[in-house]
Amino acid sequence: MLLSVPRNLQRVILDEAGGSMTARADEHTNNSSLLPFPEGWYFITTRDALRKASLMQRTWMGEEIIIWVDPAGQICIARSVCPHMGSDLGPDAGGRIVGGRLVCPFHGFEFEPSGQCVATPSGAPARSARLDVFETCEIDGLIFGWRGLGGRPPQWRLPDPPPAGDDWTGLQIRTIRFPGHPQETSENSVDIAHLSYIHGYHNVTNDAPVFIDGPQLESRFGFSTTRRFAKLAKLTLRVSAIAHVVGLGYSFVEFQEHSIGIDARLWVLATPVDGTLIDLSIVSRMRTLYEPKRFIAGLSFLPRRLRAPIMNKFIADLQISDVQQDVVIWSRKHYVPRPRLVSTDGEIMKYRAYCSQFYPDERHCESSRP
Ligand code: FES
Ligand SMILES: [Fe+2]
Repeated sequence: MLLSVPRNLQRVILDEAGGSMTARADEHTNNSSLLPFPEGWYFITTRDALRKASLMQRTWMGEEIIIWVDPAGQICIARSVCPHMGSDLGPDAGGRIVGGRLVCPFHGFEFEPSGQCVATPSGAPARSARLDVFETCEIDGLIFGWRGLGGRPPQWRLPDPPPAGDDWTGLQIRTIRFPGHPQETSENSVDIAHLSYIHGYHNVTNDAPVFIDGPQLESRFGFSTTRRFAKLAKLTLRVSAIAHVVGLGYSFVEFQEHSIGIDARLWVLATPVDGTLIDLSIVSRMRTLYEPKRFIAGLSFLPRRLRAPIMNKFIADLQISDVQQDVVIWSRKHYVPRPRLVSTDGEIMKYRAYCSQFYPDERHCESSRP
């Protein structure tokens, strides 16, 4: 689905589960002083989308990669280059999945999800032929790959979010593509001042100092916002939010809305594509709203089982409209290493200090890649 965007941002693409990769960089990013691929876990797709696609190919973190899942559920993320003689392995080149194995289109070598070649058409498997694989992590069906500087292995893991029981909806996923950098998008988690100025929130509060523990950062804030629901009711929402930032590709936000009683969770997943563009995936879910704390026109006519999915879509639409406001800024802004801050700006420099760990000096990284 193509999102309605300003004419000069028409390379912005939106779809479900990680995006169709039709856009290409047509201008230089304004973030030239930030390294384009900070170390961390970066979203690729969902398990559901993988099952449907059989074999996927993506431009991810400056690499062409392929992804597939075998019938036992094991996922492989690998560079899209055959170790035998270098064929591309994506579906467009003829790569395919047969019986859970990747079959190279050039000479028919077969690979298991571990990356190991386990069969060739002419006889014994080529034991020395192994795909260049990326470590995988899965959170609630969202699939991430580890991008370590110099190819080094994972230095930390993504924490599991709180369990979601049967009373939580499924995930709504939207992906939007634009020129940007994941450090700049995550910075909005601590940029309290922009909430009122860009998004029109009122009564914005900074509820606790930014807390940092290794790769994890926590920011707590509150705000009120007035929105129209289903073109009917005008709702004023009072929201408390806890943003858990874990590296620059992963933010998980817990929202509690106090006047109606909405509990929502949101992932904001920024994935660099090619050094210029990023894919920003907004993933939301909410707890089933059996008894709203107050009357919402339009909602009470719906069967109970439809209320949460419709409200979830409402929440997702709100987030996307907020993100579109941010994209106008992100896609044009310059990275300012020494911003001229004022006292109401929030803890921007504390956040910047936290970010520095994701750019370790590459000379000190053990390389596991050839
Ligand atoms: S290049 Fe892949 S099997 Fe030969
Ligand atoms: Fe924002």
